[in-house]
Amino acid sequence: PSGKRVFSGIQPTGIPHLGNYLGAIQYWVDIQQDNECIYCLVDMHALTVWQEPVSLRKQTLEQTAVLLAAGIDPNKHILFNQSAVSAHARLAWIFNCVARIGWMNRMTQFKDKAGKNREANSVGLYVYPNLMAADILAYKATCVPVGEDQRQHLELTNDIAQKFNHDYKTGFFPVVEGFIPKTSARVMNLRDGSKKMSKSDPSEQGRIELLDEDDVITNKIKRAKSDSEPLPSEQEGLSHRLEALNLVSIYSVLAKQSVEQVLQDFGGKGFSPFKSALSDLLIQKIAPIREETKKMLADKQHLQTILKQGAEKASAIADPIVSEAEYIVGF
Ligand code: ADP
Ligand code: NA
Repeated sequence: PSGKRVFSGIQPTGIPHLGNYLGAIQYWVDIQQDNECIYCLVDMHALTVWQEPVSLRKQTLEQTAVLLAAGIDPNKHILFNQSAVSAHARLAWIFNCVARIGWMNRMTQFKDKAGKNREANSVGLYVYPNLMAADILAYKATCVPVGEDQRQHLELTNDIAQKFNHDYKTGFFPVVEGFIPKTSARVMNLRDGSKKMSKSDPSEQGRIELLDEDDVITNKIKRAKSDSEPLPSEQEGLSHRLEALNLVSIYSVLAKQSVEQVLQDFGGKGFSPFKSALSDLLIQKIAPIREETKKMLADKQHLQTILKQGAEKASAIADPIVSEAEYIVGF
């Protein structure tokens, strides 16, 4: 994308992991070059499942540090936390009244996250996609880089915008384009290739966190689930081997090589040399971010100032837009 207003968010529920990095953060950094970017720590989304108050505040600062260390520029762009800008909650309420219950019931991520006892979940978790629509449309952002897991929520955002425009006979909200990075947008759990790598997974063994020390990275990759066959020499040979496919995809994105190229080098070999090359690549990428994050975390006051200034810049854009939406509905 270029010349667009970009919005994207990440939940401050833990240390960002490799999936967040390859599926989101890396692109957030890249597209700063040609776009106006608004990046948000979505603490209101985090609250849809229980958060210890002290941890939530701490993790918001940690994530801020990681994003800055990864290359987000808070001077040219906007970095802030969601709850600091009231426009999100105001527009989300309007969208709760625009979206239909039937639409919510189709959201597969709710089904995944809610578990067996659906009714024990918070109402917030259920209407989370409406808040996400508000996050985006409060800025009339048209470009939203997210991982593959968010595709359905983006479609819902457009459904809401269209219904709003139709019901109130206005062209107020724009069409939003998802921007789902082509290369390995979805990183899977290292211990179970059928689940995505996630902060909310209780076991840390399934994910590489951006603050993991080198030896922790090496160990997690060593212990990552694979299988007993050698790597295949063609991509087709990976189709029923979820864990192997995931590891090769991660390698291919980090090395900026196609999966075919990676298999040319490692096809016919066992996992051991491949895993050791993969650990090296991961360490090369993660160690500098980790070290820079540690430095940033030494000055919490500075991080808080960055968030506060970000919230002011974000409000300056979102408040007039949401005030107009409120007027349109008759407030
Ligand atoms: P998590 O599910 O780990 O809590 P978030 O919901 O905070 O992550 O998502 C932040 C961003 O990272 C979103 O753009 C999301 O699409 C992306 N993302 C999260 N997990 C993965 C993954 N396993 N692979 C690729 N992208 C991911
Ligand atoms: Na998520």
